[in-house]
Amino acid sequence: MSKEIPSDKFIIKGLSDKRKLKGIVKIGGAKNAVLKIMAASILFKDRLTIKNVPQVEDVFRMIELLEDLGAEVKRVGENTLKISTKGINKTSLNGKIAKRMRASIVLTGPILARFGEVHFSRPGGCTIAERPIGIFLNGFRGMGAKDTRDKKGTYHLKARGGKLKAKSTFFNKPSVTATETFLMTAVLAKGKTILKNVALEPEIESLANFLVKCGAKIKGIGSTTLEINGGGMLQTKGKSYEVIPDRITTGSYLILGALASNNLKIENCQPKHIEALVSSLRFSGVKMRIGKDWIKVLDNSKSKFKPLEIKTHEYPGFATDLQAPMTVFLTQVRGESTIFETIFENRFGYTEELNRMGAKIKTWNPQKISIDGPTKLKKRVLYGPDLRAGLAYIIAGIIAKGDSTIENAYYIDRGYEKIEEKLSSIGVNIKRIK
Ligand code: EPU
Repeated sequence: MSKEIPSDKFIIKGLSDKRKLKGIVKIGGAKNAVLKIMAASILFKDRLTIKNVPQVEDVFRMIELLEDLGAEVKRVGENTLKISTKGINKTSLNGKIAKRMRASIVLTGPILARFGEVHFSRPGGCTIAERPIGIFLNGFRGMGAKDTRDKKGTYHLKARGGKLKAKSTFFNKPSVTATETFLMTAVLAKGKTILKNVALEPEIESLANFLVKCGAKIKGIGSTTLEINGGGMLQTKGKSYEVIPDRITTGSYLILGALASNNLKIENCQPKHIEALVSSLRFSGVKMRIGKDWIKVLDNSKSKFKPLEIKTHEYPGFATDLQAPMTVFLTQVRGESTIFETIFENRFGYTEELNRMGAKIKTWNPQKISIDGPTKLKKRVLYGPDLRAGLAYIIAGIIAKGDSTIENAYYIDRGYEKIEEKLSSIGVNIKRIK
């Protein structure tokens, strides 16, 4: 997103080291799960019902994209969507909307497999890396699609003979959205597809399990090899999909709790999805109790946190999306910590502002930083380079001294539901300025 898109801003009154937050936060559905099941609606003959849908901007963009294609999307109450794709009469993704969200790429496979062609521009999203799409293009070519690109940069993929063919693929990198895209594409392509070296993120497993419930033939769910026997559209026959809790939001509240609360309970979450974070925080000295679907951050006011060496990794390793909030945590830890980012090559853009707030972060190279702590943070006007960095700034603003401003609330609204309501309910003084 460029700075030109008008956005609300947040003003946060810093706690200045006082651990005042307490109460209960309930975690909503995962952004990176719901966007994929919304794209999967294209695989169904009948209407798909999705429950526990978070009200976040990326979901609104996905609704707009589906409606633009001719799908009917109905909202029932706050958190349920009903999607019928019977009326789809277009195979071009609206470029303006798609540009605002990388996840739009997951629509390409289902459209191509069902209608024999798709037009799309290179998807946009956060500026955390070059975000190539080679895995997608190669995969579609392998399944018998011919691709061209016009002067404006729009790709046109067309299946030879109007239908894609099943084709086994070894991904040279485990990519989350490519795994999801080819899983969905293979459900419609006739024959057996074997996908090797796929990503293992819980959102993928959740999507695959639901497709199986609705008649898809998928083996190997939860492993690095998926075998799909495809051949036709699916039917929900009244079954609905319940979006799994957002693990990145869970982890972010856990970090906030460790830094600024004296008793915070995180409910409706799946602690097993953030084991890497939990074990790092425990090693550092954060006291917490964990149940099946809750985490209680205990009073850590007397804890002396130890430094950590973090390396982001594909699931079940340390999630890259929790890297920025973790940096904020490490500014409050005694000693030198390091973070090595292995997924995206440009994801430390937020550290300069943290240094201006008082942190001591040294960049060794675009993928490695060290953090010397503890350091007191002071207020600042901040502009987050991506949605996860935006949330890290919110955490930094909460523990800092003075009033901080987070300029581009839109970024945070892309992925975090009702952020100011949830934060206010546990004691954060945060205001949205329209
Ligand atoms: N890659 C390629 N070629 C491709 C596709 C990916 O080289 O064609 C590379 C990427 O550049 C990266 C690596 O593969 O180095 C893995 O990226 P991946 O494709 O897994 O990322 P993604 O699918 O685009 C999803 C999430 C991200 C999350 C990453 C990693 C969605 C919509 N996005 O992105 O979430 O960081 O997986 O877990 O699911 C976010 O929510 O803020 C976010 C960025």
